[in-house]
Amino acid sequence: MLFCVVALFATTIGEHFTDDFDSPVLHKRWRWHAPAGGEYSLTANKGWLRISLPKRKGGFNHWHGVFDAPMLLTDAPERDFAIETRVKLIQHDGANFHTGLVVAHSTKHLIAFGPYCSPSLWKMKRPEIWLERTGEGRVAVAPMKADEAILRIEVSGYELSAFWRAGEDDGWRKVATMHLWFRPKMIGLIAKTWGDESLLTVDFDRFGLEPIEAPAKTNFMDITVNVDASRRMNEINPMIYGHFIEHLGRCIYGGIWAEMLYNRKFTGASSDGVIEGWKRIGDGASYSPDNTTFYVGGQAQRIEGHDDGEHGIAQGGLEIEPKSYIGRVIVRGDGIRSITVSLRSGERILASQRLTGITNRWRKLQFKLEPKTSASDALFAITFRGKGVLHIGAASLMPADNIYGMRKDVIEAIKAIKPPIVRWPGGNFVSGYHWRDGIGDPDKRPPRWDRAWNAWEWNDFGTDEFIRFCRVVGCEPYICVNAGEGYADEAAEWVEYCNGSPDTRWGSLRARYGNREPYKVRYFGIGNEMYGNWQLGHLDAIKYALKSIEFALFMKRVDKSIRLIEVGVDGAGWGGWNEKVVKIAGAHFDMLSVHYYQGYNANDDVSLIYTIVASAPVRIERMLKETAKIIERNKPAGKRITIAFDEWNVWMPHQTAQVGLEGYYTLRDAIFAAGVFHALHRLGDIVEMANLAQLVNVLGAIRTTQTKVLLTPIYHAFSMYVHNTGNWRLYCEYNSPKLSAPTAADVDAVDISATLSADGRKLFVAAINRHPEMNARLHIAIEGFKPREGVWLELMTSASFNDANKFESPDVVKPRKERLSLSDACKFTLPKHSIAILQFEASS
Ligand code: AHR
Repeated sequence: MLFCVVALFATTIGEHFTDDFDSPVLHKRWRWHAPAGGEYSLTANKGWLRISLPKRKGGFNHWHGVFDAPMLLTDAPERDFAIETRVKLIQHDGANFHTGLVVAHSTKHLIAFGPYCSPSLWKMKRPEIWLERTGEGRVAVAPMKADEAILRIEVSGYELSAFWRAGEDDGWRKVATMHLWFRPKMIGLIAKTWGDESLLTVDFDRFGLEPIEAPAKTNFMDITVNVDASRRMNEINPMIYGHFIEHLGRCIYGGIWAEMLYNRKFTGASSDGVIEGWKRIGDGASYSPDNTTFYVGGQAQRIEGHDDGEHGIAQGGLEIEPKSYIGRVIVRGDGIRSITVSLRSGERILASQRLTGITNRWRKLQFKLEPKTSASDALFAITFRGKGVLHIGAASLMPADNIYGMRKDVIEAIKAIKPPIVRWPGGNFVSGYHWRDGIGDPDKRPPRWDRAWNAWEWNDFGTDEFIRFCRVVGCEPYICVNAGEGYADEAAEWVEYCNGSPDTRWGSLRARYGNREPYKVRYFGIGNEMYGNWQLGHLDAIKYALKSIEFALFMKRVDKSIRLIEVGVDGAGWGGWNEKVVKIAGAHFDMLSVHYYQGYNANDDVSLIYTIVASAPVRIERMLKETAKIIERNKPAGKRITIAFDEWNVWMPHQTAQVGLEGYYTLRDAIFAAGVFHALHRLGDIVEMANLAQLVNVLGAIRTTQTKVLLTPIYHAFSMYVHNTGNWRLYCEYNSPKLSAPTAADVDAVDISATLSADGRKLFVAAINRHPEMNARLHIAIEGFKPREGVWLELMTSASFNDANKFESPDVVKPRKERLSLSDACKFTLPKHSIAILQFEASS
């Protein structure tokens, strides 16, 4: 008998609840949750609850994205408790199933414990007793001798222990103890199947719930942290805080670049004679794309006025502020002497300027417009009056405060997180990019169709603009060359354009375009993700390795001081890609590139998604270590090859190409980013650089509208760490409970990294509390460093880990700074789901 509680039918006494399923009616405390069917019966086997799952395509499953397993649920008590049941398998021949007790945070995120069998996944012939959490298979296993077992789960604070016994005379055997991310909200029984042929009938005799007396429960984790400043573990490379910008979506155009007009060079299709992105003004003119008289790219907009009215074209959707805008139009006319450029909002002209001196030759006319009011849906118009023909070859409109064509507000936000290095121009984009399209007079550079992302590439932002960007924000440039559809000589010429002296062929062109001094670009990547079938010109490992040798030889012949980055993969995957490229081409490159994006299933419970994302850095750390081992095993003797972790981020399922890969990152994602930083601190000897993908709008740390800049929690994580990391990682020992998630097992709930500045005067203790419900109390002891009174704390948290900054509420998640006393800092409460950095200063 369970719990020795004498029960008739079902009883609830205090927090005890026992249901021996003797009543033909389900006790009112239960909820039968069976979204896709599956039946229960209290009469099929009297005194037992029977759950039957018929054959069904896919079964009645409970796993990522699919949640239709039947469950009998009731509320979990707030205090510590134990639940028990006796389970008997009635019919399961050939079935994939899991059944038994369930402890659930939600109907989509739970722990199931009981008989399990999977002929299809695990080739099992007999059931065993399995403990699983949603998305995490086989957490613990016990044998099952008969078709019957008694199961027990105890939940004490955030610890769950699972036990079983064969019969009532048998002793309890513990299967496992696991730490919980969330206190359970529901308890009960579950039966699930998967595959098309599974059939399951299972009987439960009694369900019992009782409160348990646990050791004094605390709602926080006590973490002892011992830092030894005399033990410097490894150097921290500042380049781990690098970024990546790609010609994709609104990262560069619509983000960094200040141009406000779409299709300013009049390429592409036309509708009723008006070229894409533009619309007509007035109805007394005819419009056509002109492919014989054009300024750039094989096409211009031709407008022929037939009456005395106003004719022209306009582009809408502009956000205008009361400030100065500058621009230019490149036009020619027959019978037309002047045109007007204007900003309009509905019927109102916000600002206008008449431009004269038009002839039948192309002329570039500059203008300045100064609207006095703002407008959220303004038009930019180019118009003329009367009869005659106007050709418009190109136009441009930018806020006058732009910095060399870049948005001032965006540049300021980027400068504030001091990017040490920025990778450009792709990404997938680069495999179809020919750098020569992007140099010289911007109005003469041809727009091209970018086949990687199916979008126009305007070629307004090319090599010179990128270098200017790097100089303005103060970072190292890192150029990834086209090894997809490109060739070694093209790549070598690019190196010469950047680094050649003005008396070289391509260096002289750079000088002619106003940049005499070589750019001294040190980092070049040989292609991007060349293994994937989404990459233009993708190759297998051997062919890529051979192609990359040619690239390396050509490029280093131009400048032997450059550091080359070879395309790699994460770990041992892609048919042993890393092993092959390192073995074949290892003598020719300096770093191996690795990319990692953490995704998740949008149908999963937000709590489960949190565990996946928050734990991912641990998986990344293990993957990078494994990658380093593969490099070590296969590289030429004596050669040092490090890792360039040059694309990493959370990629949320709704960040699709249709929305330009844009989305609102949350506190959860900042906790992920901070976790990656800690991993990179620990991997200082093997990871030479890392680049968040990406910096603006596209998977962006910074988001923009035409007039606003929004800083995401990931941005703030960068800001915290960039300014508060020392040059040395210190020995740091701490005792954290271990959590597990589908992404990784044995994840520190609290992750700590201690670093020391180069001069030894500042010691930083960075702490992440991944736990979504428990605070942590840190007891910090520091050896080998005498801190003085007064410690700076920077702390980022929010009410929910799913909180995000939005344009209408931009400051929901951001760090706050405060000064603590030394003793408070050394006994510091780190809130649930938070990131904190303490800055200790040495006493003089
Ligand atoms: O960052 C977005 C894309 O992700 C990059 O273009 C590519 O390298 C990766 O697949």
